Amino acid sequence: MCGIVGYTGENQAAPILLDGLKRLEYRGYDSAGLAVRDGDALAEVVKATGKLYHLADKTDQGRSLPGNCGIGHTRWATHGDPSLINAHPHVSGSCSGSGSGKVESDVVGVHNGIIENYGELKEKLLRHGYRFYSDTDTEVVVKLVDYYYKKYKIGPVDAITRTMVRVRGSYALALMFKDHPGEIFAARKDSPLIIGAAENAAFLASDVPAILKYTRSVYYIGNLQVARLSPGSVKFYDLNGDEITLPLTEITWDAEAAEKGGYEHFMLKEIHEQPAAVRDTLVSLVKDGTVDLTETGLTDGDLKRFAQIDIAACGSAWHVGMAAQYVLEDLAGIPVRVELSSEFRYRTLPLGKDTLVIVISQSGETADSLAALRVAKERGAETLGIVNVIGSSIAREADHVLYTMAGPEIAVATTKAYSAQLAAVYALAIRTALARGTVSQERHDALVSELMTLPEKIRRVLEEKERLQWFSTKISNAKDIFFIGRGLDYAISLEGSLKMKEISYIHSEAYAAGELKHGTISLIENNTLVVGMLTQAGLYEKTLSNMMECKSRGAFLMGLTANGNFSVEDSVNFTVYVPKTDEHFMISVAIVPLQLLAYYTSVNRGLDVDKPRNLAKSVTVE
Ligand code: F6R
Repeated sequence: MCGIVGYTGENQAAPILLDGLKRLEYRGYDSAGLAVRDGDALAEVVKATGKLYHLADKTDQGRSLPGNCGIGHTRWATHGDPSLINAHPHVSGSCSGSGSGKVESDVVGVHNGIIENYGELKEKLLRHGYRFYSDTDTEVVVKLVDYYYKKYKIGPVDAITRTMVRVRGSYALALMFKDHPGEIFAARKDSPLIIGAAENAAFLASDVPAILKYTRSVYYIGNLQVARLSPGSVKFYDLNGDEITLPLTEITWDAEAAEKGGYEHFMLKEIHEQPAAVRDTLVSLVKDGTVDLTETGLTDGDLKRFAQIDIAACGSAWHVGMAAQYVLEDLAGIPVRVELSSEFRYRTLPLGKDTLVIVISQSGETADSLAALRVAKERGAETLGIVNVIGSSIAREADHVLYTMAGPEIAVATTKAYSAQLAAVYALAIRTALARGTVSQERHDALVSELMTLPEKIRRVLEEKERLQWFSTKISNAKDIFFIGRGLDYAISLEGSLKMKEISYIHSEAYAAGELKHGTISLIENNTLVVGMLTQAGLYEKTLSNMMECKSRGAFLMGLTANGNFSVEDSVNFTVYVPKTDEHFMISVAIVPLQLLAYYTSVNRGLDVDKPRNLAKSVTVE
């Protein structure tokens, strides 16, 4: 989704803004723009559609936009086409056809999020003589700020808080006012925004990597709060306009973690970081051989008391939820429902104090998952966020938080965060089972010690990558691919299929193997690739039979199974073996070949692996 950056300080702003936007590219965008001002002079806006280098070229890498204070934006279109006129920054007055040029207006701003009542606000502003040049909700917000600023002759902070009271929806806003040179004003509700502090400078951005090169001191601005940035100073205000104090956080992870580090793509780097992501997550949750959830605030008493667990998540995180369902039910004997966050709120699920609602989210900002969390809280359930990004909205609003330790994930298609989430839910399931007495201490210890072998087993799978690379060349022109499995193997299929389709653009479906013949099998043609998951001993024969049903209709078969199941080679065309582990944890090793297969297929097809079309890393719109 959109990315915003801001800088005020002693250096030239435009190159810093362009660099910051580059580091936010992973969020997905279709146009970009900057507004920079030089001391008291009017700000100048430059916009470009398409990739960021167009904007860099247009501004001679920022050199043709002099000034020490500025804001920048990458736009992922929601209201209005991806065009120059709709690209941000937007101004409170009128603007030229291209949207670029000197800003005569009093207010200029950028915005990430969606203003739900922008239509009604636009009507009001039209009645007051405002004219609109774009189709965006952002132009409406900028003009509304301008309206209050002038009507009540109040300062920027009060004009912004008045606007915040009127708008519904989500926003991270950065604004500059003509009368306040050297200052940037920011506001946030439900869209990510961080503020960076440095000597003689201040920054803002949608995400930490954008400013990490310049500072490690970060404020996580809260919902419905306003920030006022000037060189070397950051002040915060609540909705009443009263000054408040926020804690300063030191970012401990390395800027390296957000760089490619010699890999061709972030996705490949992140696939290789999975042993570390899983190990770090497990180490944070296992103390002296025992799963310890103290930091989440969940006690054994809580885990015993819950009669039901509901899981809400989107995309790959929802696939983790599917896996968690099988593992929690099997180990802890507790009923588990898994719901897509975007559907959760439309069901009148009976929730209450004895229900634990788990929201799984890498970014912690996914709008539908945040909405599901709020619905769960409203209905009286206890909530746990399993989140990767520290200080994100879900982390802040959930009753309990379990942080995964994947570090920053840049590629749009998740890999290491998914693996870290799996590790987290295994640990949760094992502790829940111990607390509820459905596993003995001895079984708990055995499960934990098996869990700790996962990083090394994942590393061993990575050593097999050349075979997957070779096989990817055989399937790069496939029209359709089907991933099938039963039980936990169905959960792997869901993720394997999503990885393949989202980055290779090959149509792919995941199917519960037993369900195929109730309709979908009619899509199997000569040479259609069917990938069968065979990691669960009790389901092996049945899934293999379903694969054979496809083969007899012309399918080309790939089987993925645990080391030792060599008989599979008699039936399928290509086999991938992964190290054996406890069957509850097999997804963690089995997903890696599927990630690699998707990755190499995308590379073979010459696609933008890290930034697939139409997708955004953090989906902050519903
Ligand atoms: C797919 C992918 C997405 C995310 C989904 C949820 O590779 O990354 O499906 O899993 O958008 O995002 P988070 O986990 O940030 O809530």
